[in-house]
Amino acid sequence: MKVEIVTVRDGAEAVVEFDYARRSEDEKPMVLDVLLQAQATTMPDLAFRYGCRARNCGVCTIDINGRPRIACRARARDGDRISPVATLPAVADLVVRRDGIARQMRGRLQTAQGNDLNVEAPADYHELTSCIECYACLNNCPMHMRNFGGGLPGDMDPADLPDPAEGYRWGNPFSLLKLQMIRIDPLTTAAGREAALDNAIDLGLDECVGCPGCKCGVGIDLKGLVVRALVDDAGDRLPSAAE
Ligand code: SF4
Ligand code: SF4
Ligand code: FES
Repeated sequence: MKVEIVTVRDGAEAVVEFDYARRSEDEKPMVLDVLLQAQATTMPDLAFRYGCRARNCGVCTIDINGRPRIACRARARDGDRISPVATLPAVADLVVRRDGIARQMRGRLQTAQGNDLNVEAPADYHELTSCIECYACLNNCPMHMRNFGGGLPGDMDPADLPDPAEGYRWGNPFSLLKLQMIRIDPLTTAAGREAALDNAIDLGLDECVGCPGCKCGVGIDLKGLVVRALVDDAGDRLPSAAE
């Protein structure tokens, strides 16, 4: 089975064809298996990330044919093109900088208070806890693309890219999910709920009005449980809704 692997070195892309040797006739390898074999054979310096190999840690996300997928759970197919996720800046080969998202949330998530663990969280809260931070939902998010002049990191002159170490200015479905978790956490104070909504508005929640919505890599209902809940509660505080 032949695939194409996009490598990135010092900002320059190259496409390397790799021929995966199936270990048995009926083997249906995951893309991560293909990358591991490539690294063990003809591409010893191929850079990529993985951890749990069981769709738990979220760090193995790559693009397959231009769409974000979780490498340890995506079946490889003949002709697949494997590249770094386009929504974040590439560091080397399939490794991207993930820290800009986490740093964006610095100081925005410290609103839960109290220690009464004998409190039931709503069902929605438990669904949101299944987020594995894979960042697949950044795909096609106009709010996240505001960080890159309305496009993707690869479209920009590297000198103009925002510094991930500062945390990105504009949000994304994942950051909204984290803020919505704060809002429905029964331990959060009323002031904490209000601060979380303020943060969502500040991150660019107005982009969600009229947006077709975001897709989660593990099937969380982002549109219903996160975006709609925040947009409804923000009401006429959103710039586009106030116009
Ligand atoms: S609904 Fe909002 S968070 Fe989701 S893709 Fe659109 S702008 Fe991004
Ligand atoms: S919301 Fe879904 S797609 Fe986004 S980071 Fe979490 S698990 Fe991944
Ligand atoms: S290696 Fe952990 S989700 Fe793929």
